[in-house]
Amino acid sequence: MNQRSCLTIILAAGEGTRMKSALPKVLHRIAGLPMVAHVVRAAGRAGGGDVALVVGRGGDEVRAAVAPYAPAAEMFVQRERLGTAHAVLAARAAIARGYDDILVMFGDTPLVESAPLEAARGLLADGNAVAVMGFRTEDPSGYGRLIEQDGRLVAIREDKDCSDDERRINFCNGGLMAIDGRQALALLDAVGNANAKGEYYLTDIVEIANARGLKVAATEASFENVLGINNRAELAAAEAIWQRRTRRSMMLSGVTLTAPETVFFAHDTEIAAETLIEPNVFFGPGVRVTGAATIRAFSHIEGATIGEAAEVGPFARLRPGADLGDHSKVGNFCEVKKAKVEPGAKINHLTYIGDAIVGAKANIGAGTITCNYDGYNKHLTEIGAGAFIGSNSSLVAPVRIGVNAYVASGSVITESVPDDGLAFGRARQDTKPGRAKILRERYAAMKKK
Ligand code: UD1
Ligand code: MG
Repeated sequence: MNQRSCLTIILAAGEGTRMKSALPKVLHRIAGLPMVAHVVRAAGRAGGGDVALVVGRGGDEVRAAVAPYAPAAEMFVQRERLGTAHAVLAARAAIARGYDDILVMFGDTPLVESAPLEAARGLLADGNAVAVMGFRTEDPSGYGRLIEQDGRLVAIREDKDCSDDERRINFCNGGLMAIDGRQALALLDAVGNANAKGEYYLTDIVEIANARGLKVAATEASFENVLGINNRAELAAAEAIWQRRTRRSMMLSGVTLTAPETVFFAHDTEIAAETLIEPNVFFGPGVRVTGAATIRAFSHIEGATIGEAAEVGPFARLRPGADLGDHSKVGNFCEVKKAKVEPGAKINHLTYIGDAIVGAKANIGAGTITCNYDGYNKHLTEIGAGAFIGSNSSLVAPVRIGVNAYVASGSVITESVPDDGLAFGRARQDTKPGRAKILRERYAAMKKK
């Protein structure tokens, strides 16, 4: 690990008007996490040290989004959008504290990985004053071109300022830069705005550093690392890339995906090795599968914990607070929310279990509903270990079903049932022999008239 001190400055002042959104661009999500938080996480993995965020509008929201990953992040407001060098200088007070490395990242470039960041910092450790993350592309239009002479990076020319020859260069600036912390302010302060856009370009520090006899170098990263998001189509493209990367790393860590392209993960999904995931499964944030489990097709899972050898689905919905013990089962068309399902309990068909504790090895019959909400408050249903809930029962909370108790099918249970008790919460059956025939004849006669 790089021992040099580091300040990561994340530029997030973009208006993002092409998102057509009230939400600041960098707060749009990939895998359930705002893109700026993806950037902060990548910086953290590369030992990016202290974090400074340069924001325009929505600063407090941006700070809140990164807080879980960089609680001490400082925020700087760039009031006028005068260019990337001007944006970096909004964090002047932080830079002036003195760091070995300054890492500049863009808040709208969420797929950046730690490897190129570490490579750029490595170039500073080797004595370069500026290190640029470059990439190669068939279509370089719009990007700054890396101008090299004798294998050395001498300048970055923005697209609008390029000569025809320069415009043909396809080695481009990915945007990310690492700058020697002792040189950074002097270089940035020397940037002017005499260019096609009238902006203070961060990229100009490459030429300035060269003119001062400082060393400058470029790394080469994949296009994904530099993919910037400007509209919702690009957001979806980035999501697809993120999902593809994550499916692959899940499989390489021992998770079986029978149709990987149909399974969607969140930024924090944790799945134990030997888990089998059938096609068309969606994971929202906050899911942990702690042992080898089976997640069957068409399940929607968020905020849930799933134990060893548990079986979920097909067509199950697990909502936040669902906690499935080892060897438990939640089958088709069942919804479980804020409920502890203890080991070996079975909820096999067409059931809603919310605000509940289901004891070990209890069996919940088809169509059982915990009536947890009275329109104002939520109430708890406790089902003891080994209890048997007959099909199509309503358990009106708060209520407790005892250990090894038995609830007759079709019951509406409003009072607690003691351990080993048997409860009928329904009208008794009344059978009238021969009456069906009489009824049919009467109805047939009425229809003829
Ligand atoms: C920039 C680079 C270009 C590179 C490209 C890669 C400069 C001058 N150019 O161009 O070489 O190929 O990225 O995508 O750096 N921002 C602010 N405040 C500002 C201006 C920009 O915070 O005043 C932020 C934006 O929100 C964005 C980032 O800086 O996150 C880059 O700005 P953008 O306008 O997208 O620069 P490009 O023209 O794409
Ligand atoms: Mg851009």
